[in-house]
Amino acid sequence: MIAYILYTTLAGLAVLPLFLYLRNPYLMNDINYAITALRIARKISKFKTHKPFYSILDCFLDNVAKLPHKKFLVFEESSFTFSQADKESNKVARALSTHAHLKEGDTVAVFLENEPMFVWIWLGLAKLGCTAALLNYNIRSKSLLHCFSCCEAKVLIAGAGLRDAVEEVLPTLKQQGARVFILSEDCDLDGVENLSDKIQQASDQPVSLHLRANIHIKSPALYIYTSGTTGLPKAAVINHERIWMASFLQSIAGVRSDDVVFVYLPLYHSAGFLMGLCGAIEKGITIVLKRKFSASQFWNDCRKYNVTVIQYIGEIMRYLCNTPKRDNDKDHKVRLALGNGIRSDTWADFLQRFGDIHICECYGATEGNIGFVNYAGKIGAIGREHFLHKMACPYKLIRYDTEKEEPVKDSRGFCIEIPTGETGLLVAKIGEKTPFSGYARNKQQTEKKKLRNVFVKGDLYFNSGDLLKIDDEGFVFFQDRIGDTFRWKGENVATTEVADNMLMVDCIEEANVYGVKVPGHEGRIGMAALTLKENMDFDGKATYQYVKKCLPSYARPRFIRIQDALALTGTFKQMKVKLCEEGYNPAVIKDSLFYLEDNNGYVPMTQEIYNSIKDGKIRL
Ligand SMILES: *[C@@H]1O[C@H](CO)[C@@H](O)[C@H](O)[C@H]1NC(C)=O
Ligand SMILES: *[C@@H]1O[C@H](CO)[C@@H](O)[C@H](O)[C@H]1NC(C)=O
Repeated sequence: MIAYILYTTLAGLAVLPLFLYLRNPYLMNDINYAITALRIARKISKFKTHKPFYSILDCFLDNVAKLPHKKFLVFEESSFTFSQADKESNKVARALSTHAHLKEGDTVAVFLENEPMFVWIWLGLAKLGCTAALLNYNIRSKSLLHCFSCCEAKVLIAGAGLRDAVEEVLPTLKQQGARVFILSEDCDLDGVENLSDKIQQASDQPVSLHLRANIHIKSPALYIYTSGTTGLPKAAVINHERIWMASFLQSIAGVRSDDVVFVYLPLYHSAGFLMGLCGAIEKGITIVLKRKFSASQFWNDCRKYNVTVIQYIGEIMRYLCNTPKRDNDKDHKVRLALGNGIRSDTWADFLQRFGDIHICECYGATEGNIGFVNYAGKIGAIGREHFLHKMACPYKLIRYDTEKEEPVKDSRGFCIEIPTGETGLLVAKIGEKTPFSGYARNKQQTEKKKLRNVFVKGDLYFNSGDLLKIDDEGFVFFQDRIGDTFRWKGENVATTEVADNMLMVDCIEEANVYGVKVPGHEGRIGMAALTLKENMDFDGKATYQYVKKCLPSYARPRFIRIQDALALTGTFKQMKVKLCEEGYNPAVIKDSLFYLEDNNGYVPMTQEIYNSIKDGKIRL
């Protein structure tokens, strides 16, 4: 009898895992996630109470002490150990302290491509207690000036290759009393100071800790620019707490201390800087830094440098899948890919083509207070719900009216949570543990991202601007982005910024800019509906010259549609949804259409061009 009870109990215990597995096949993933999340929460609370505050720089310095001879950064043919990187950044800190008279709390704009000096400058600035504003090196003229001033930067440090962009804005910068340094020894521009020689001559001894004694977890560490819903780029305030949160993503994704991570995404974005660079410092691992992404060299680089972890944005994965097949496609050590925006079909292609790589999709905005991680590797999902995560960052999906572009309200004036499986707008509660730091010197845009009185009077939520869906297994899927931005080639494009630029062209009266979907591409490509000034024709040449000069290539409208009048909504907002749906097919649209041909400017759109784009013969 006892034997029988024992037997059935044991048998019962044996089937228990099976039972749990059938109910939740992702149980092990969920448990692992819970363990990691709790470990991270403990670490962060330790950093917060640590006196003085323990920052990512302190973590870097601990690596220097513990692993002085470990490779920290590999770039082209050179490599730097933690100890060498420490010395390089000491020289930068000393040169800047002496020649730019920087002190704790000053903001310095860094206008530089991906290269080791970017990292030394950031570390050097951190050693002085300064905030680094990471400028996108594609921006020019008005945008560049705006990004420099909106974070109250006093000093600009530019790469030697960006001399012309600096020259263009120099008179205004000088008027504002800014100091301008260039990473060169012999720049002949009047008003620009050579920096490279000063760094070379500086001592590599550490600077005093007193220089950054007052930095705390809420001090701004960085400004990272986002193209939000309107106008010029906005400087998202990244404080030290936010850096820590983002740095731990590598741990959540399963990065190990013997990994080598490939950072080829631009360091001026949060993916490359926070998840890539800072994440690697948190784990104490080696970074392979690349100036720019190259699809043809990608796997050779991975092989050459023994890369084990790559980052991606969706477009990158498609570019890689589109390269000609090679025999050695699976010959590499990459085991983990960490990123955002891969489409389901590309995901499956990628795995088949390049072998068993764990793809970890993440979701999060630079300035946001909410993120998701698809730690279970479910194809197509951007994240997975987890009760611990939900407890730590309360979020909801609410019903949204895409035509009116506002949340749907119930009879009492509150938002409506949608049922599982439906698409809704992601909002996340703003609280002490889930703060929203907003944008530098831009109260209006900061307020615009906040939703008040969402479920009860007086509550406050962050409006992500993204429409998501959560299925009954708890997987989160991205559906669409709302408002006045669209994404193309991994960059957010602010439609009003593009429209403002279009209005500078002589013949253009009004402009409505939006993104249209193109078969086989992620995101949307730029299109503009224009009205022309009275008695003027569309001047394709002038328009092309202007957009080429003022807008980075990803933001230039690829299609133009000339209308007699722009359609407005009932609330006098420009109608976009219908235009997006109508697209750029000349057989359907009766307005005249133009297409931006590479190196050739705007030419009339033809059915032939349309078909070539559709069949993938023209690559956009
Ligand atoms: C930078 O170096 C060049 C060449 O040595 C020199 O002509 C120029 O005056 C320097 N600029 C400044 C501001 O010192
Ligand atoms: C890559 O790994 C191989 C084998 O483990 C080793 O021989 C080689 O030196 C490594 N290359 C680099 C750049 O670390």
